[in-house]
Amino acid sequence: MNSPANPLRICCIGAGYVGGPTMAMIAKQCPDIQVTVVDLNQSRIDQWNSDVLPIYEPGLKEVVEEARGRNLSFSTDVEGGIRGANMIFISVNTPTKTHGLGAGRAANLEFVEKCARRIAECSQGHKIVVEKSTLPVRTAEAGKRILRSSSSGATFDVLSNPEFLAEGTAVSDLLAPDRVLIGGESSEAIEQLAQVYERWIPRQKILTTNLWSSELSKLTANAFLAQRVSSINAISALCEATGADVDEVAKAIGSDSRIGPKFLKASVGFGGSCFQKDILNLVYLCQHFGLSEVAMYWEQVVKMNDYQKQRFSTRIIRTMFHTVSDKQIAIWGFAFKKDTNDTRESAAIYVCRDLLEEGARLVVYDPRVSEKQIRHDLEDVFKDSSLEVSQRHKRLIETNVSIASDAYQASEHAHAIAVMTEWDEFKKLDMKRVYENMYRPAFVFDGRNILDEAVLAKIGFEVHGIGRSNKFTN
Ligand code: NAD
Ligand code: UGA
Repeated sequence: MNSPANPLRICCIGAGYVGGPTMAMIAKQCPDIQVTVVDLNQSRIDQWNSDVLPIYEPGLKEVVEEARGRNLSFSTDVEGGIRGANMIFISVNTPTKTHGLGAGRAANLEFVEKCARRIAECSQGHKIVVEKSTLPVRTAEAGKRILRSSSSGATFDVLSNPEFLAEGTAVSDLLAPDRVLIGGESSEAIEQLAQVYERWIPRQKILTTNLWSSELSKLTANAFLAQRVSSINAISALCEATGADVDEVAKAIGSDSRIGPKFLKASVGFGGSCFQKDILNLVYLCQHFGLSEVAMYWEQVVKMNDYQKQRFSTRIIRTMFHTVSDKQIAIWGFAFKKDTNDTRESAAIYVCRDLLEEGARLVVYDPRVSEKQIRHDLEDVFKDSSLEVSQRHKRLIETNVSIASDAYQASEHAHAIAVMTEWDEFKKLDMKRVYENMYRPAFVFDGRNILDEAVLAKIGFEVHGIGRSNKFTN
């Protein structure tokens, strides 16, 4: 494959946060390889073909624009994409199951299975199928069985090539990853995929394993990262109770080279589409294999995260004299982290829900998240077990949530500010101007510890950070 007689042609099924950026990077780095990204979602594909991409990632537009129209295309023709390719990536979503066996824990593999069946139906000759989606261990086995049932006589090699990029830094992560992981049984197929990455990634960073190690390594990496965040967040609760400062503790322990400084930033709780989903998936796998102690151990990471989000809402309510009813709270940031427009599992959603239930009026500002998305997420979080939103909650969102066009507007006439996302622009605001337009006491609940507490206190704010007892009450 990838000889003049048989050039490599890649198709990726799924044009989401992973499929779009990873394929754009492959196309940029390998101008001789034709890359087609296909998706069932017409509007997403239209956006990939427009000037306003469906996802915000620093530097992504430049990468897409360099390759699009040359060797990168986006299309809804899934079948055509599969037929025209000899290497097919599956990069569709694998959310947590909401009903049926394993609901609330197991990964919903419906979309992955549909892709495998589609590939089996419309393939001819030999193809390499690459699992890019995050999948439970041994999914490749099921994939292989489905592919083997192909009636056209096509043959397949299945590889696992999990993605480790983080949102907000996707382009730099793809340009210079810590490692690329390829799991598989056929050394020839592994080599063909390795040769693609080798165009810009040093060979020693391309690790090869068996299929199952590769699948499990992805879940384990996310579980370890999330565990660090939950560990420091657990300590943040103790810091608030004792007068220690969690950022000082993080610095002190992170200076130990065995621990290291990364992923020790205490916060209002981790969000994003994957940490919780992948840990729950790991928990389900452990339960499936009868390892209940191991399952309970990892489940606690998610429980601690729920506790952290709920602790933050409770702290706001308690501090504001035990009621936020009819008080205006500015919500600074709605995305689950800075430099992305992704709100999946964002802590902001849960904190807003709790504050709305208490009757607060919320004015939300996020530089990258649309009003439509914010309202959609808030409706979603109020869904009951039959997936309905009550009229009361619909009205609450309509009347008590408004969207501001900047952080100043959000905090005008506010009783409090809650910093939910660590956007850099929040650090550069004229906080005197913010203070002048707020009610007194002017509370700041900094869920990301990004604002300078001493400076704010001097202006007159009452500041409550994560993992800090309030030293600066006026
Ligand atoms: P996403 O929801 O942004 O995108 C998935 C896309 O797949 C959607 O556009 C959907 O329309 C499309 N799709 C679903 N079924 C399809 C089908 N049968 N045919 C064609 N298109 C179909 O998801 P994502 O965030 O890109 O995640 C994809 C996978 O990558 C998940 O398994 C996730 O766990 C993993 N992952 C995500 C990240 C991340 O930062 N988001 C990082 C690493 C790994
Ligand atoms: C994470 C992993 O970092 C990626 O390697 C992985 O590929 C990806 O999940 C995935 O599988 O989807 P992502 O969720 O995009 O990436 O972003 P992170 O930077 O990991 O942040 C996740 C959450 O943890 C965010 O809400 C962030 O604010 C929070 N966080 C992170 C903290 O609260 N403190 C920290 O020190 C680090």
